[in-house]
Amino acid sequence: MTIVLVGNWKMNGLEASLDEARQIAAEAGDASRRGVSLTICPPATLLARLSEAVAGTGLSTGGQDCHARVSGPHTGDVSAEMLKDAGAAYVIVGHSERRADHGETSAIVKAKAEAGLRAGLTPIICVGETRAEREAGKAEAVVLAQVEGSIPDGFASGQFILAYEPVWAIGTGLVASPQDVAIMHGAIHNFLVGRFGPIGATIPILYGGSVNAQNAAELLKTAHVGGALVGGASLTADGFLKILKVIA
Ligand code: PGA
Repeated sequence: MTIVLVGNWKMNGLEASLDEARQIAAEAGDASRRGVSLTICPPATLLARLSEAVAGTGLSTGGQDCHARVSGPHTGDVSAEMLKDAGAAYVIVGHSERRADHGETSAIVKAKAEAGLRAGLTPIICVGETRAEREAGKAEAVVLAQVEGSIPDGFASGQFILAYEPVWAIGTGLVASPQDVAIMHGAIHNFLVGRFGPIGATIPILYGGSVNAQNAAELLKTAHVGGALVGGASLTADGFLKILKVIA
């Protein structure tokens, strides 16, 4: 299966960052021949310009969030259709920063994932436990409840991607151990197969949380890890392409 490498720029990036994207795009064709798909999810303000700048290179783009509705009186929000119109192929939904900062429940995340599918985007649905939940021995239960509550009802309506991102590993330099990742990804995999049958096994499950060129190779070797969602290390072409180099 193709390895899915996604950069999440979060609330970072101005016009000058387009150069980083162009440098990443220059490697996208070769990456694809080596079995890795590259995607950058810039802030909404850069999505259209970045998509134009990398058009035809094989580097895909995505939004970081979307509203569940197509259009309407929702000041400040962006719909999945608008992301698609701006050139996106993907949309991240349910990132823990949105679950925490904006009170997004799994029901809201599911509606956003369905909006992504409706617009012809591939949703990247994020799940992950907090440190307190892990220390209380509840990590697997919390994550599987998020998966169950956040994924679209029918698989037939389109493909989606899951991203397991332990909250305590995001932006902290702490990375889940390969053993813990294997256990969690195995549990998510089993859940998806239980829900969707054999086709559930084809849903990529990315790992995210302080992924960089030092730890990516080992993480990507772990069973049921289909790629990585990368924050900080994706902000420069150098950081992102170094990860590419160690995984393929
Ligand atoms: P990080 O962020 O790589 O900076 O930890 C990952 C994410 O939040 O997607």
